[in-house]
Amino acid sequence: MTQERYTFPHRHLLGIEPLEPRDIQMILDQAQAFEEVCDRPEIKIVPALRKRLVVNLFFENSTRTRNSFEIAEKRLSAEIINFYPDSSSLSKGETLIDTAMNLQAMRPDLIVMRHSAAGAPVMLAQHITKASIVNAGDGAREHPTQALLDAYTLRKHFGRLEGLKVAIVGDIRNSRVVRSNLWLLTKMGAHVTLVGPPTLLPRELQATWPGIHCTNDFDAIIPEMDAIMMLRCQFERGTGAYIPGQGEYVRYYQLNAARMRRAKPEAVVLHPGPMNRGVEITSEVADGPNSVILDQVTNGVPVRMAVLYLLNNAAMEA
Ligand code: NCD
Repeated sequence: MTQERYTFPHRHLLGIEPLEPRDIQMILDQAQAFEEVCDRPEIKIVPALRKRLVVNLFFENSTRTRNSFEIAEKRLSAEIINFYPDSSSLSKGETLIDTAMNLQAMRPDLIVMRHSAAGAPVMLAQHITKASIVNAGDGAREHPTQALLDAYTLRKHFGRLEGLKVAIVGDIRNSRVVRSNLWLLTKMGAHVTLVGPPTLLPRELQATWPGIHCTNDFDAIIPEMDAIMMLRCQFERGTGAYIPGQGEYVRYYQLNAARMRRAKPEAVVLHPGPMNRGVEITSEVADGPNSVILDQVTNGVPVRMAVLYLLNNAAMEA
């Protein structure tokens, strides 16, 4: 019997929601192959995106994600243009459509976009016909490459995603990281528990992801978890208005050494960064033996290489 060859079927990566489990698997497997390239002692470069033009379009601040994409692009030998538009001077609709038309005119092959408005990369994809769009985070909607690198880190550590018990803790309301992780982890058969104060944990999420568990009691669930993913309190998105005070938040939801002592010894701690040390997580835990936070950063490069590579292949085959 001949095995059917499965090709990555997507032109864009706008979110995890439209992906099939086998698409996710394919990205993670491809990332594993690229990890070997990144670990080479000498030349950490492959020619996969040679002569392809990638535009990095970041309307919102970013350190890790932008650098990680740029390194991934360089390791694939792509040509790179960085756009940092001043999003404050024009209204959002005009900026986007205008930018889309201008970009289209320059014939890029791939566009990596971050924007504070949910759906902005989807809108770009509707206007740009000849380039692949990669969402690098849009409002509180999705941040697909973050979820993919989180999954890659978990799969590398535990050898599987299926059956893993993962708690995602903190500012659920404002987090795009949590939404992409909910799509990914539930599609791959992990068990997700969302934890946070009632005001930051919208129960409506259970309508979209009926299998998830939501709780306000962090201490009660810690001993069962294989992985604890802490989220940043997004004070710039108004999180302060939803909690009585930082002291109370820290008391019930901070991951500190005392709480870690109640976790499984082999449990891992994740955080997408940037961390508010001393708020959602203490330095002792962030820099401690259970933390895989820097592994997440390292894994971001091969995962983004895999995404760019597979989208480019899909576009060439179309
Ligand atoms: C996240 C983001 O920007 O969505 N960070 C990241 O990309 N590594 C999370 C955050 O800002 O808290």
